[in-house]
Amino acid sequence: MSKPFYITTPIYYVNDKPHIGHAYTTILADVLARFHRNNGQETFFLTGLDEHGQKVQQAAEERGVEAQEHCDEMAPRFTELWEQLHISNDDFIRTTEERHKNVVRDILQQVMDKGDIYEAEYEGLYSVSEERFITEKEAESGDFRDIKKLKEKNYFFKMGKYQQKLIDHIDSNPKFIQPEHRKNEILGFLRKPLNDLCISRPKSRLNWGIELPFDSNYVTYVWFDALINYISSLGYGTDEASFKKWWPASYHLIGKDILTTHAVYWPTMLMSLGIELPQSIFAHGWWLMGESKMSKSLGNVINPMDLIDDYGVDPVRYYLMREMVLGQDSNFTMESFIQRYNSDLANDFGNLLSRVSTLMKKNYDGKIPEPGELTEAESTIKSHGESLGEIVNEKINAMRLNEAIEETMQYIRSVNKYMEDNAPWKLVKEDKVAAGRILYTAGEALRIGAVILSPVMPNRTEILLNALNAQGTGLTWGELTPGRELKDHEPLFPRKTQN
Ligand code: ME8
Ligand code: MG
Repeated sequence: MSKPFYITTPIYYVNDKPHIGHAYTTILADVLARFHRNNGQETFFLTGLDEHGQKVQQAAEERGVEAQEHCDEMAPRFTELWEQLHISNDDFIRTTEERHKNVVRDILQQVMDKGDIYEAEYEGLYSVSEERFITEKEAESGDFRDIKKLKEKNYFFKMGKYQQKLIDHIDSNPKFIQPEHRKNEILGFLRKPLNDLCISRPKSRLNWGIELPFDSNYVTYVWFDALINYISSLGYGTDEASFKKWWPASYHLIGKDILTTHAVYWPTMLMSLGIELPQSIFAHGWWLMGESKMSKSLGNVINPMDLIDDYGVDPVRYYLMREMVLGQDSNFTMESFIQRYNSDLANDFGNLLSRVSTLMKKNYDGKIPEPGELTEAESTIKSHGESLGEIVNEKINAMRLNEAIEETMQYIRSVNKYMEDNAPWKLVKEDKVAAGRILYTAGEALRIGAVILSPVMPNRTEILLNALNAQGTGLTWGELTPGRELKDHEPLFPRKTQN
């Protein structure tokens, strides 16, 4: 038995309306989870919401509602989107849940008891928008808004104490931070002395947080609270069996915007607790609109709900997975979206199914014809199909999803070409057995392509497999059963023009 697969997304800020960027990370996690489940690996997929902090408190005050009520009203914007997008998460954690807050309090006390938390008077520059103290240099960078000088007593986590241990861990675990250039970024950051981390906020300034178990005048800094979701969801401290089964995480998927918190704060927190580190933190790039990051504050976001309404769920999933090279930034444009839709999905994939099923319906009583005896052309398609699963698996394990998808689409294209070359629509008039062999081959290749792409497009591939009345979802050639009746189906991917 291979080790269970545990994958997480960031827990998104409940205050923000979800956009394509959030949808992207969640779909990516979903696709990876589905691939691992399909391969028979036990899989746990976690996503959720980050609900404490200043912005939530402010937004609730502005609306004149309690902070918890505000969270409860905002949370469905995410859960409903995930449902629409067919996200197969196994748990959904919200940081305002008791099960989470208990673990955070327990961990704070443990770290305190260990001597890794101390109290100190601190005077420095504070960024209200980022909710943290910043350095002079950061203040000069112009990236921070609402900066003020602040002097207050706070609690600090001895993060600096673990600096060398973290560097050593990164050096001896090349997959710990991926991709490679992000690892180098963190190693660069760790060349300077690592400061301790301020982990408290006085209640005079912020109420909406988890109270420190050892000082009721303070709440916990939101990142110290949020990162713990990755283990509170597993039942750390209460459900030992579950925690032992799933931890360490196989992947924490994140965007590059939150690399430091995940690759520095979180591992040092775990070190203090004596907990094993996650196997891999994978930071993907940003979806850009033109030159800038898609973000709420820039007001340049694409609403996934609108795209789903116009094009369907699976084309959205397909585009996001096919278009982004993991680790790099990607440009979102409607032109490229429609181009991909029409060329890959409508022309290559959908068209092959409609050709095959139309010809079978017209000439073979709507039944799957006999495969007959394979010639060289069919043997090539068969052996290519049989090796495709392995090729795709390797690409997935190397986090090259776009290439995994492209490999499969190339296969589909080669089958379309085989159809063109052999023109079963003509051949059927002279040699029904030969034309049947060609249609069987194309149908079986399509079945294999659909099984392989099912984690990316769970809904459309299911329609395709139903249409072919395919029972097998294995990757061995020949599972399509001759004589079985085809089913009527809606067009998989009707062609689109840009609105
Ligand atoms: O940072 N392109 O939450 P958040 C790609 N609560 N991905 C994007 C994106 C874009 N333009 N915009 C957002 C937080 N994302 C914290 C996390 S985790 C313990 C706490 C995705 O709502 C990407 O995954 O700001 C990014 O890291 C995340 O949304 C940030 O979500
Ligand atoms: Mg953000």
